[in-house]
Amino acid sequence: MTDRNVHERLASSVKGPIQWIQKTMERMKTLQARRSNGVTPPNENSGGVLDANGTDGLHFTRTRVMPVSREIFRRNRIVALEEMSPVADQFKLLRTQIFHRTRPGGLNTIQVSGFSSEDGKSLVAVNLAISIARDARQTTLLVDVDFRHPSLHLLFGLHPETPGLKQHFLDGAPIESLLVSPGIDKLTLLPAGGRIAHSTELIGSPAMEALIGELKERYSDRYVIFDTPPIAECPDPLVFSEYVEAMILVARADHTRSGAVRAAMDRVPRGKVLGIVLNDMKAEGGGR
Ligand SMILES: Nc1ncnc2c1ncn2[C@@H]1O[C@H](COP(=O)(O)OP(=O)(O)OP(=O)(O)O)[C@@H](O)[C@H]1O
Ligand SMILES: [Mg+2]
Repeated sequence: MTDRNVHERLASSVKGPIQWIQKTMERMKTLQARRSNGVTPPNENSGGVLDANGTDGLHFTRTRVMPVSREIFRRNRIVALEEMSPVADQFKLLRTQIFHRTRPGGLNTIQVSGFSSEDGKSLVAVNLAISIARDARQTTLLVDVDFRHPSLHLLFGLHPETPGLKQHFLDGAPIESLLVSPGIDKLTLLPAGGRIAHSTELIGSPAMEALIGELKERYSDRYVIFDTPPIAECPDPLVFSEYVEAMILVARADHTRSGAVRAAMDRVPRGKVLGIVLNDMKAEGGGR
């Protein structure tokens, strides 16, 4: 099936206010097998705790600073920092479209989900968050709410047991003590902290609802991006969608089926969906 066919097939399956944001990401598939690489192991900075000296305001004085090397970003396919990169440009385009659709209404909470596992949701969430943080006017908080397959800390090369939301909910750790600064100006990460057995119940709890409301209010001047599991696999993303103002769904070229898109679109709050990112699409004309 050609890329055009995939795009048209998916597009024709979604009606209503959905605006398609066609994403063309790296053609690295041909260079490295997806699963053989996995993610880059933790770097030597993992676990270090430093004061951010209040550079990001009072709320962030306890943020742990864990600078991530460019090499880790490169290995984990995080490209949004790169100059002169066509893929980074695609994320700038996505960022711009998101600004246009959220700024007028003051919407600042955006959930990233998708149709099935391994479509690239987390990678899109990270690249999008970095791209937004690179904008002169915008700061970003990136939150891992995928308690079934938490991965944002690994994409940033942090220790597998980096604490996060799990420790907040189960052990009472204050949110401020769990925030991580990965060394990118205006970007803060809130990791998941590990898998949680009854994640749907936790996500549906008043405590979770209160926290998301607090994040929205407390960080009203910044975008808050939430990485969540795929819609077809568990109820978590649908339960979570009640708390956010906007959603972005990730589809994978030559992989996501139109039936899966239709089924998901029947379940999500469609008015919140800003668009669908088509990940892993080969460049037209054979190269980029
Ligand atoms: N455009 C792409 N080109 C090459 N590899 C990609 C691309 N997008 C994602 N991958 C790779 O596919 C794998 C899955 O990506 P990612 O973890 O972002 O998916 P996910 O949808 O969040 O998965 P899960 O459902 O398990 O949370 C990773 O190894 C990632 O590096
Ligand atoms: Mg993921």
